[in-house]
Amino acid sequence: SASSQPYRTSYHFQPPKNWMNDPNGPMIYKGLYHLFYQYNPKGAVWGNIVWGHSTSKDLVNWTPHKVAIYPSQPSDINGTWSGSATILPDGKPAILYTGINPLNQQVQNLAIPKNPSDPYLIEWVKSPNNPLMAPTPENQINASSFRDPTTAWRGVDGRWKVIVGSKINRKGLAYLYRSKDFVYWIKAKHPLHSAKNTGMWECVDFFPVSANSPVGVEMSVLGSDFKYVLKASLDDTKHDCYTIGEYDHVKDRYTPDEGSVEGDPGLRYDYGKFYASKTFFDSAKNRRLLWGWLNESSSVSDDIKKGWAGIQAIPRVVWLDKSGKQLVQWPIQEIEKLRVNPVHLPSQYLKGGSVVEVPGVTASQADVEITFKVSDFSKAEVLDPSWTNPQLLCSRKGGSVRGSLGPFGLLVLASKGMQEYTSVFFRIFKGQNKHVVLMCSDQSRSSLNPDNDKTMYGAFVDVDPVHEQLSLRSLIDHSVVESFGGHGKNCISARVYPMLAINEAAHLYAFNNGSEAVTITRLSAWSMKKAHIN
Ligand code: FRU
Repeated sequence: SASSQPYRTSYHFQPPKNWMNDPNGPMIYKGLYHLFYQYNPKGAVWGNIVWGHSTSKDLVNWTPHKVAIYPSQPSDINGTWSGSATILPDGKPAILYTGINPLNQQVQNLAIPKNPSDPYLIEWVKSPNNPLMAPTPENQINASSFRDPTTAWRGVDGRWKVIVGSKINRKGLAYLYRSKDFVYWIKAKHPLHSAKNTGMWECVDFFPVSANSPVGVEMSVLGSDFKYVLKASLDDTKHDCYTIGEYDHVKDRYTPDEGSVEGDPGLRYDYGKFYASKTFFDSAKNRRLLWGWLNESSSVSDDIKKGWAGIQAIPRVVWLDKSGKQLVQWPIQEIEKLRVNPVHLPSQYLKGGSVVEVPGVTASQADVEITFKVSDFSKAEVLDPSWTNPQLLCSRKGGSVRGSLGPFGLLVLASKGMQEYTSVFFRIFKGQNKHVVLMCSDQSRSSLNPDNDKTMYGAFVDVDPVHEQLSLRSLIDHSVVESFGGHGKNCISARVYPMLAINEAAHLYAFNNGSEAVTITRLSAWSMKKAHIN
């Protein structure tokens, strides 16, 4: 029940119990969305990994199915790890996934539906040719760092291509394999791409984005006005980092654009907790959707006590920003079906040092959008040129540290007496020749429980506050706050575990802890209904 399980989410995907990590093989098939996920059927910690499986008509409500892929043959007897689905030209899906063999080597396997006319795709059969890709003395692949095949694509030469993440010493890379029949795969001489000193690349993802529209692009489409995104989940820092670049279809090489920084700190999907993510092309709505795993920030013993760990972020639509230099993400529109009892506050002046409650919403389960306008920049704090690390800047200047232009934003999952709150906010600085906007998510006061990881998160937002208003949206769901700054230019997800600000005792406020006033030009909040999830 909600009182004995105050941290279970109401509209974020999770299994009824136990451990979950990476999203696997997301796809739409016969009008149904499928989500598989790394799952431990035996407990709330990582281990015994199989593929859990659920389907949905709307990406909001989910029906559970039996475990789809589990250890059953030598090529995966020690684990069925992450992988991806590809819709083949005949419309049928195929799954490539990592298996752990009896020697504890990582190898790549194929599974196909037993009965493709079943839209639920309940039964999967494994190829008798497994493993299809394996480390050998000849190919010199590191057998403990060779995993997580992507969705495959078809090249100009008619062959299938797929990439698999790996490392050679400290160099992270994406091995490229080619196949004529999806079963017999040959490793290409060169990886699709590699980058020095980035460590193991887990869960690589590679996809096109349209240079001039937010519409999604299917992987095998060939066109000239596309950019490509290569994402790697960096095992060293547990961050999902990406670059934007060009893909040479003939040489099968990816090159990041000049200025697109490799590794960490580079661009991230999310500057909070968000890992092992994966996109897929939603052919029903012509968009590219992103799924990502939000791990716990609680202690292992608390996870065992509550009996579960891991949720999935609300799926996000991803497209290329007008600048061409970064992605933009926004929660799927379907989630707005859960919005009830809207509360719209009138435009108002928010004096320095003030707090305004947003009344009438279930603040532990809410969706809130707020927009700020700043008119007077004369008092903006000067950005010290050494402040190049936004996360560090956020930890030095948390929500309770007064500034001039900010911090202003939201206090979410707040207790009545403010013993607990999570603050999500902006600060504006005067930079060299422009104003710099910092967005932070401050968990330091989120819970009286000392055992949680309360790391502060932060990022600079590429908006010009002189000409644009500053918007912030937060999806609040008991133990998660997913925040979107600058209309999706920046995302920060945080896991928090209040002890007082739970269920009906949670409150929501707008605040301004700067000395200068700002104007709230829009504040809309909704209570969120509970979705049917598994
Ligand atoms: C990422 C990851 C993958 C691996 C899976 C195992 O979180 O480590 O690289 O396939 O999880 O569960």
